Amino acid sequence: MAADLHPVRIGSVQIPNNLALAPMAGTTDRVYRALCRRFGAGLTVTELVSARGLIFDRKMNRNWRYLAIDPDYPFESIQLFGSDPVDFTRAIERIAAHPILSSSRLIDLNMGCPVKKVVMTGAGCALMRQPDRAEQIIRAAVEAAHSVGKSVTVKFRSGWDEMSINAPDFARMCEAAGASAITIHARTRNQMYGGRADWSVISDVRRAVKIPVYGNGDVVDQTSALRMLRETGVDGLMIGRAAQGRPWLFSEIIQSLGGVPMMVAPDIDARMQIIKEHWHGLCDLLGEQKAMLEMRRHLSHYFQGASCASRLRQLAVAVQTEQDLLNVLEEWRVCQGKYCGNS
Ligand SMILES: Cc1cc2nc3c(=O)[nH]c(=O)nc-3n(C[C@H](O)[C@H](O)[C@H](O)COP(=O)(O)O)c2cc1C
Repeated sequence: MAADLHPVRIGSVQIPNNLALAPMAGTTDRVYRALCRRFGAGLTVTELVSARGLIFDRKMNRNWRYLAIDPDYPFESIQLFGSDPVDFTRAIERIAAHPILSSSRLIDLNMGCPVKKVVMTGAGCALMRQPDRAEQIIRAAVEAAHSVGKSVTVKFRSGWDEMSINAPDFARMCEAAGASAITIHARTRNQMYGGRADWSVISDVRRAVKIPVYGNGDVVDQTSALRMLRETGVDGLMIGRAAQGRPWLFSEIIQSLGGVPMMVAPDIDARMQIIKEHWHGLCDLLGEQKAMLEMRRHLSHYFQGASCASRLRQLAVAVQTEQDLLNVLEEWRVCQGKYCGNS
């Protein structure tokens, strides 16, 4: 493997490479994570699930669509959010007792979610303003996870706002509390997803701890991937929005980092095939009706940058049946051919 591309050891787990798909609610379901892995993502993380919600979901049916992991791939991490240490202990016990979830070797703690309804409960990024509470949660999760052979990672932001950037101190606290790796999204809570990520905070966090650090925020292509690795010295990259509708981005980055890619910039037929697979996978996971609702959103990501993207998006939000879906894909092929645009 080339110097910029290398495995990452998180606790007792050796992740095959240093590229991770960021958890994204509404996008990174089991099917999409599997697609990204096929193109080279080493670490994938479920979208956030409430630790307390998981405890009370007796049959695990309400949360299953978010939690479903591939039992044959041990590098899928389960992400939990909450504000009470006891909830994390009990949620991890439930995960360990579940026939499929127990196969995951990693538990990720969400301490970066900026959404109002999450931070109002003292969870997500609100914990960056309560580092003592955050520490209790990490210690509780680490104890529960270690007792069942799992490691704990923490994902957080630069700080609450630009006046309170505390990511380096927060990182030190995570390490001291037993976290095996961290991810720093270099935006503040107040930035939400806007503005530019400040990568200097990532460099500061990298220098602050010895455990592996994943850098996150504004890695969008090969150039920015290489730049973040070299400028900040992080061990790994976590890629979010740029990978929506573009699972092959991981392959492109692997190639630019000197590795052997799976498939770079697939042509329109290969992309159509990928979308069809995505659709069939979602049908298996959710049933056809719910799968169609999810697929509409995924389609608009897949069509990003297409020469006739706005027309395709209009069609995508109206698809009702598999035949509608196939018709939109055909329309995509025709308009790509007509304009020879990029997609
Ligand atoms: C639609 C959406 C949903 C997200 N859901 C989660 C989530 O469930 N858990 C989490 O830790 N971060 C979540 N994030 C944040 C991403 O993981 C990532 O930190 C952020 O998008 C910045 O990375 P990027 O610039 O590569 O997109 C979400 C982001 C988006 C855009």
